[in-house]
Amino acid sequence: MKDLSKDTQNAILEAMLNGSRVATVVTDPQQADNPIIYMNQTFESLTGYAEEDIIGNNCRFLQGPGTSPEAIQQIRDSIANKVQTTVTLKNYRKDGTAFWNRLNIEPVVVEGKLYFIGTQTDITKEVDQRLLLDEKEEEINQLLLPIIPIHLDLGAVALVGKMDEKRFNILTSKLSEFVQETGTHHVIIDTTGIIWEVNFLYEKLVVIQDVLRLMGSKLYITGINSKTAVQIASERSADQTLLTFSTIQQVIRQLNDSVGIPLQTRLMPFR
Ligand SMILES: Cc1cc2nc3c(=O)[nH]c(=O)nc-3n(C[C@H](O)[C@H](O)[C@H](O)COP(=O)(O)O)c2cc1C
Repeated sequence: MKDLSKDTQNAILEAMLNGSRVATVVTDPQQADNPIIYMNQTFESLTGYAEEDIIGNNCRFLQGPGTSPEAIQQIRDSIANKVQTTVTLKNYRKDGTAFWNRLNIEPVVVEGKLYFIGTQTDITKEVDQRLLLDEKEEEINQLLLPIIPIHLDLGAVALVGKMDEKRFNILTSKLSEFVQETGTHHVIIDTTGIIWEVNFLYEKLVVIQDVLRLMGSKLYITGINSKTAVQIASERSADQTLLTFSTIQQVIRQLNDSVGIPLQTRLMPFR
């Protein structure tokens, strides 16, 4: 490059930057409010802003109501200290649509003058996926909690939402932990609020029952509606039976007869 004239070097560099798949801006901190002095074409494709819209302006026009003040502070600090930073923040295109911007800011000194190079990558898909995963995890936790000790010797868990294989596996280990910690002999799984994933329902409940039985505890399934009852009946093999009831009160009545758990025991809302 050094053998080429300045103009040729500039033309090549500009072509490279415009061909780059990464949105790029350069700002000049010697000028008031650190304005943009260069942007590449990918920046326009990403944000919708053309050169005539933004050259001479500070980049903060990309920010909006959803932009985190902490992220902006991080940028401010990096500029003040003239150090590199990478930050993910919510930005807005010219048409108002939002995107998650992974912004990298790099200070460079050229011929004794400081500039900042900013590169912007749209990571909306990745962030959305992460948020979805967090939501799912939250759903799983809600689904499994709380396991409520409704009597010294009786615990209950009310399931809500869609049950899939993974959730059943977590439920199995949570229930066995509960039984191990509390020594509870009777456990109710109330299924009134769940949506069954049909094909492995019976098999999974039997696994939970077996695990609890090995730990000295008995499992009762409540909230079985007629459709589920028919399904369970059709899947049942001779040596595997589940104790199913339509209501929790029915279980308590049976436990009153057999082990003296008081009839007034109720599944109270958990606080
Ligand atoms: C090179 C460079 C690129 C920048 N790119 C963006 C950007 O893409 N999105 C954004 O929200 N802020 C960006 N900023 C940050 C803002 O321009 C500004 O520095 C920030 O909002 C903090 O300053 P303020 O408190 O004066 O607004 C960039 C800053 C520099 C120096």
